[in-house]
Amino acid sequence: MLHTVLSVFSVLLAAVAALPAEVHINTTSFSNTTAYPLPNLGNVAAHDPNIIQYNGSFYLFKGGVHIPIHKASSLDGPWEQIGTVLHESSVITKQNRSRPWAPTTVEWDDRFFCLYAISESGSRNSAIGVASADSPESGNWTDHGALINTGEGALSDIDPYTISNAIDGAFIADQKTGSPHLLYGSYWHGIFTVPLADDLLSVKTPQHPNATNLAYVPKETVKPIEGSFMTYKAPYYYLWFSHGKCCHFDLEKFPPMGDEYSIRVGRSSDVTGPFVDKDGVDLLDGGGTVVYGSNHGVVYAPGGVGVLTGSGNDADVLYFHYLNTTIGFTQGDAQLGWNYLHYVKGWPVALEGYVHANGKDDF
Ligand SMILES: *[C@@H]1O[C@H](CO)[C@@H](O)[C@H](O)[C@H]1NC(C)=O
Ligand SMILES: *[C@@H]1O[C@H](CO)[C@@H](O)[C@H](O)[C@H]1NC(C)=O
Ligand SMILES: *[C@@H]1O[C@H](CO)[C@@H](O)[C@H](O)[C@H]1NC(C)=O
Ligand SMILES: *[C@@H]1O[C@H](CO)[C@@H](O)[C@H](O)[C@H]1NC(C)=O
Ligand SMILES: *[C@@H]1O[C@H](CO)[C@@H](O)[C@H](O)[C@H]1NC(C)=O
Ligand SMILES: *[C@@H]1O[C@H](CO)[C@@H](O)[C@H](O)[C@H]1NC(C)=O
Ligand SMILES: *[C@@H]1O[C@H](CO)[C@@H](O)[C@H](O)[C@H]1NC(C)=O
Repeated sequence: MLHTVLSVFSVLLAAVAALPAEVHINTTSFSNTTAYPLPNLGNVAAHDPNIIQYNGSFYLFKGGVHIPIHKASSLDGPWEQIGTVLHESSVITKQNRSRPWAPTTVEWDDRFFCLYAISESGSRNSAIGVASADSPESGNWTDHGALINTGEGALSDIDPYTISNAIDGAFIADQKTGSPHLLYGSYWHGIFTVPLADDLLSVKTPQHPNATNLAYVPKETVKPIEGSFMTYKAPYYYLWFSHGKCCHFDLEKFPPMGDEYSIRVGRSSDVTGPFVDKDGVDLLDGGGTVVYGSNHGVVYAPGGVGVLTGSGNDADVLYFHYLNTTIGFTQGDAQLGWNYLHYVKGWPVALEGYVHANGKDDF
């Protein structure tokens, strides 16, 4: 009897290695919908993944000590760590300088710029820092420090840094003028864009940043939007973000279905908005069309979104992290997943598997 119990127990342990055995998981609020496809497996643990393509390889940046960089020849891996962005703690002297969050790396003017965040959970005392290198491969990154500060630090008393939170940096170039823009947020007063100087090492007009609020949730006390990313696919700019509870789940009491993370989008013909969702609701009024949410009872709280924009016949790729309900619910359990995108009447739809629309998007 004891032996049988132990055997069953160890089989269970093997199957759900990261889940504490004594906890009863209440699956009632896991969505079984098949409206979203299962992800293609990235086969790497990653929270807030960011991926770029360079010289025939994929480079994955994620939050972690000194910002780890992984490389693979396919989005399915295998991923090999090739180094870190920072050699030591960030030069930004606030919070935990050794473990930046949510990096986003962009290629600009033949250099690579990694935007990273220094913050702490629940705090608005944050900064977006930037490091640059001549190649993601070189291991020769220079840390340039803070682009913007909120809470404390240089110019943090300037509007809108007084009401916003400087995490989750992202980047887009204005297609008309070529001018670079930083995106940042999150929570508090939502997501903003600010014009950057051409060398990407400072805000264009630091004393008068001319920031624009792009997404906000006015009607709720907690305003759970974050992790923005912007792409351009003519004739629209797409503002992607995550909505809902990302982490720190109580295994015996998950939030009501739909309150966990999901990936949402709005679009605009102008880089500074207004961005609206499929129903015409302004993202400043809580709008956002869900592109990818929890599904099949397995994929839970997908977020940390990014998009690889295809050229020619290459389809756009949506990538993100998610929790596998059979594996575990800690931040370290978050896995990379990805799906091709197809655009229907100009709105992105995630596709199942490896078949894509070969550029036959419908606008
Ligand atoms: C499971 O969660 C649902 C929804 O939150 C709740 O109504 C139900 O009572 C819970 N069941 C158990 C056994 O805790
Ligand atoms: C999802 O499916 C599982 C397994 O069939 C079931 O136990 C669970 O109650 C379903 N959840 C919902 C919300 O329907
Ligand atoms: C590009 O990749 C090739 C093959 O792996 C390598 O030989 C070459 O050095 C790389 N070039 C750069 C600029 O990284
Ligand atoms: C900062 O983060 C590192 C890596 O997660 C951790 O080991 C260290 O204890 C943290 N430092 C403080 C002061 O919290
Ligand atoms: C590293 O980068 C700096 C500044 O961009 C440059 O001056 C230096 O030559 C680079 N060193 C190597 C080994 O590439
Ligand atoms: C500020 O940004 C707006 C777009 O949001 C733009 O129309 C305006 O020209 C900018 N002002 C300055 C002084 O750059
Ligand atoms: C979830 O984990 C199970 C193993 O526990 C694995 O078989 C399955 O492929 C995973 N699914 C996803 C979408 O990660």
